[in-house]
Amino acid sequence: MRIVLVGPPGVGKGTQAALLQQRHGALHISSGDIFRAELKAETELGRLAKSYMERGELVPDDVTIRMMATRLDSPEVREKGFLLDGFPRTVAQAEALDEWFRQNGVRLDAVIALEVEDEEVVRRLSGRLTCRQCGAIYHRENHPPKVEGVCDACGGELIVRKDDQEETIRERLRVYHETTKPVVDYYERQGLVRRIEAREVESTYAKIKAALGL
Ligand code: AP5
Repeated sequence: MRIVLVGPPGVGKGTQAALLQQRHGALHISSGDIFRAELKAETELGRLAKSYMERGELVPDDVTIRMMATRLDSPEVREKGFLLDGFPRTVAQAEALDEWFRQNGVRLDAVIALEVEDEEVVRRLSGRLTCRQCGAIYHRENHPPKVEGVCDACGGELIVRKDDQEETIRERLRVYHETTKPVVDYYERQGLVRRIEAREVESTYAKIKAALGL
């Protein structure tokens, strides 16, 4: 399975990718998670990405494309397939990914475009909690952990992401409408897009499964 998940910040790409990975085995590859891991490890890439991420802007294409190509080239990814979450986010990134497919003689199966209105995005992200250790995603109201502040899966500490402040969320939405929506049009021209209204988690998952014929 080789799938791209695209949609505004907070629509639920990470939540759905985690379910697809658990239940269908393809690897969940999130460009945002890779940047956050680099940041935590205090690498040069992490330091570079930090300033863009905290402002809600995109990390430059050349850096992002190189980083994702390295991840995609691993033997594990070739064997299991992947669910890309947060990449590609610009038309230049989508073209680079197409080139990677050409060079590797494989094809993209589908692009799942998750859709929800902007105010719902603000509501979801304002309540999001993320595990510092394993990255599991919760929501204060929709999906609270069993013990406040503690990850159900690994016992790690739950934190609020720095870019989940309202001002930064609105900037991320602006960047999405201006720069990432054209990526959906790009894939629409290739006949790959399945548009899904992202309401409750399980009904969204059921629609994705149906769209992918799983
Ligand atoms: P990234 O980490 O990719 O953030 P994002 O795309 O803004 O997406 P999010 O992770 O915020 O949201 P999501 O859609 O995964 O939603 P989630 O499942 O968590 O990117 C961060 C930054 O990194 C970017 O701003 C940029 O700087 C940089 N970056 C990353 N990739 C890049 C690239 N390719 N190029 C350049 N720069 C890049 O859910 C959100 C909340 O809602 C949770 O609390 C969840 O519990 C809840 N929820 C989920 N689904 C539902 C539902 N159906 N109903 C109700 N609540 C729900």
